[in-house]
Amino acid sequence: MRLDKFISECGIASRKECALAAKRGRISVNGETVKRADIHIDEQNDRVTFDGEEIVYSKFTYVLLNKPSGYISATEDGKYPVVTELLSEKLQRIGLFPCGRLDRDTLGLMLLTNDGELSHFLLSPKHHVKKKYAFECESILKKDAESIFFSGMEIDGGIVCREALLECDETRKKGFVTLMEGKYHQVKRMFEALDNKITYLERVEFAGIALDTSLKRGEWRLCTEEEIALLRSHYENRNK
Ligand code: URA
Repeated sequence: MRLDKFISECGIASRKECALAAKRGRISVNGETVKRADIHIDEQNDRVTFDGEEIVYSKFTYVLLNKPSGYISATEDGKYPVVTELLSEKLQRIGLFPCGRLDRDTLGLMLLTNDGELSHFLLSPKHHVKKKYAFECESILKKDAESIFFSGMEIDGGIVCREALLECDETRKKGFVTLMEGKYHQVKRMFEALDNKITYLERVEFAGIALDTSLKRGEWRLCTEEEIALLRSHYENRNK
């Protein structure tokens, strides 16, 4: 792989910046300062440093964000701020996109990645990846709400949902909903179908990963090795 491509894919600097940085002696390969950024390297085995710091190559990046309200789950929008703006400049350079959508006013766990294949897999309605939401609603939920959710309820437009798990606290205006699919505005539409209204919605789990509550709203961190392995395990176990 070309050195400038490697450095830009790792989000360190653009390819143009690499040429200048190399001229200025800021880049080394296996301990030798290199003056050109268009040379070829072995990205798996060569040791590349930029300003003295080693760059560790990984083909894909996975980030967990605690999404605040007010942000659109997209990489650009003409009107509102987008979730990718919350990331560092370095991460903004490597083409991360949100894996799935949360409404502008929905909070909580959002995975961002540049791994299109894994993202596609996790979002496919065929694969029933689990999403768990904490909710609050306007009116008290009736006694039979749990069984209605579980029996696969019909929402507007005659769309039938897969079975969903509703767990309420004693107020019956708060709790958790777990879905195995992700239709547009699904939780809100399920509550509307019961003449109720969601007043608070926060995703607390996605694909087996729990929201990291040490992240404040708007904060993010890279996924751990274990979390990446867990995400990939959905994909690798697809035919089992
Ligand atoms: N369901 C909704 O209605 N909104 C979300 O943001 C996510 C699930």
